[in-house]
Amino acid sequence: MVEDIEYQEALKKLKKYGQEHLLCRYESLDDEKKEKIINQIKNIDFDQTIELFNIANKSIKKIDGEISSIEYVDKSKLSKEQYEKYYNIGKKEIEQGKYAVVTMAGGQGTRLGYVAPKGTFKIGGGVEKSLFEALSDTIKEARNKFNAKIPWYIMTSRENNNATEKFFEKNDFFGMPYEDVKFFKQGELPMLDTEGKLMLDETGVIKLSADGHGGVFESLVKNGYLEDMKKRGIEWVFISGVDNVLAGLVDPIAVGLAITEGTLATGKSVVKRSPSENVGVFCKRNGKPYVIEYTEITEEMANARDDKGELLYGESHILTNLFNIKALENIAQNKLPYHKAFKKAKYMDANGEIIKPEKPNAYKYEAFIFDAFESLNSMSILRVKREDEFAPLKNAEGEDSPNTATQLYINYMERKTKGLID
Ligand code: UTP
Repeated sequence: MVEDIEYQEALKKLKKYGQEHLLCRYESLDDEKKEKIINQIKNIDFDQTIELFNIANKSIKKIDGEISSIEYVDKSKLSKEQYEKYYNIGKKEIEQGKYAVVTMAGGQGTRLGYVAPKGTFKIGGGVEKSLFEALSDTIKEARNKFNAKIPWYIMTSRENNNATEKFFEKNDFFGMPYEDVKFFKQGELPMLDTEGKLMLDETGVIKLSADGHGGVFESLVKNGYLEDMKKRGIEWVFISGVDNVLAGLVDPIAVGLAITEGTLATGKSVVKRSPSENVGVFCKRNGKPYVIEYTEITEEMANARDDKGELLYGESHILTNLFNIKALENIAQNKLPYHKAFKKAKYMDANGEIIKPEKPNAYKYEAFIFDAFESLNSMSILRVKREDEFAPLKNAEGEDSPNTATQLYINYMERKTKGLID
């Protein structure tokens, strides 16, 4: 039961920020929702929402600072000696139980248009494996190969956490020991309408949405999993999305490269298909590692080539990055910037009616993982083969769809069976 004093305090807070409309449906809510909305009001940082709204009114960020290209190492072009050197350094770390994997699975998968958590989506073509199962296979194989634990941390969202955990239970955690699979929910931020007002969701409480894959650092800390990693002696944490079935989750070369180059992170890249491909690319900004988004890069930069004829800005960021635990600790101490997106958002109006807008009506705020790179002084970049490590599942049809991801997975497995991949 909500005490009257708690209600009055919540109302006072809302009045201070001009958001008292949020309690207009209060009397029609059941006790559980009344408690929920009062708690939400207590916990929301309304000063932050004002700041967020101000971002929403600014124009798209232009690249400021001095941009230069970043050095990379091409995994497929390493000499036998170089390969073995990196491999053995990395192998030792993994064998000593210093390696963990984080899978970010908190996204909504809007473009795929699949209602359940994206990780439960089955790739077809006779494979009939969910993304989670395929990723778990990669981890289990590495656990055997390196005879090491390799714990798996899975970031979910408020919306898909229960369904994700149930899916793992139903599938007996795909044979992974329960104690080595941990789920944690990512953070959320309020969505704002075009006037900067918070909104009610279909159930009459404040409408929140996931804070983007950049929320992974903060939520690892908040949920106690950075501490858990430290207790386990983890030094290297590989972080990637759930929607790349070929992600090379356990990579001794990435570790060996970072150690050899004295960096605290290795970002994996694949070569841009063409100068105009819509992908973010690794570069340096004011000498620090950075990813320029395709909306920011100029045509001249996108087409620039080095003396070997390679694109100067051709190393696509594919959301597969390895971090040293010290880097994660440092990054988590500072807030990443939020990016705005204008979206269609269902909401409850003051009369209790559910409005399904035909056009975008609300701002959603997200942090991006690559905004953390700038806080690292340097970063190693490991170019990998697209066909070996990148099979994104984004759209229902066409590019990066179930068909393309499945085909890439099948081709990869065939090459593996023939012993063409280690
Ligand atoms: P995307 O940005 O491609 O988003 O996420 P998405 O949710 O999968 O798909 P759309 O844009 O709604 O169609 C890349 C990866 O980051 C994770 C996703 O689960 C995916 O693995 N992610 C994204 C999160 O974990 N949390 C977020 O808030 C956003």
